[in-house]
Amino acid sequence: MEKAIYPGSFDPVTKGHLDIISRTSSIVDHLIVAVLENPRKQTMFSVEERLEMLRRSTARYSNVEIDYFGGLLVDYVKKNNIRIIIKGLRAISDFEFEFQMALVNRKLCPTVETLFMVTNSKYSYLSSSIVKEIAGFGGDIKDLVPPEAYDLIMQKFRGL
Ligand code: PNS
Repeated sequence: MEKAIYPGSFDPVTKGHLDIISRTSSIVDHLIVAVLENPRKQTMFSVEERLEMLRRSTARYSNVEIDYFGGLLVDYVKKNNIRIIIKGLRAISDFEFEFQMALVNRKLCPTVETLFMVTNSKYSYLSSSIVKEIAGFGGDIKDLVPPEAYDLIMQKFRGL
């Protein structure tokens, strides 16, 4: 069974992430979407909130599992017998860092392959930071995030 992992901060999940999840789930047997829990990285949403947004947004994909990890990605990969790391590429500017990460991850775990999914051009400008920036200034993010995550995201902004 071909298992893949799509790791990220998902702070919050966007339609760009969901597009990668949807396309990957159609080509692998099982996809784990894994939220990074990093106490040193400031996030707007807690791990539980990010997991819940992802669970709701991906409920229709029967081969997608939502999980979280701390520490090195390759430790999770080894423990769970995963062969493929999926990364989304939006622009050349993403490439340099992702290329380095792919090489580091292969150095730490030679059996793992990083596969890059090219973003849907509809979402090439989209990122979690852009969503937070727009929502923070009262702009409309309805078209930018999965409908199932919208209320949870807006609750946070209304509470600020
Ligand atoms: O959504 P993001 O913030 O771009 O995701 C980055 C992520 C979580 C994929 C990356 O930071 C990661 O894999 N972190 C875990 C620590 C790790 O394994 N780093 C690579 C070796 S230094």
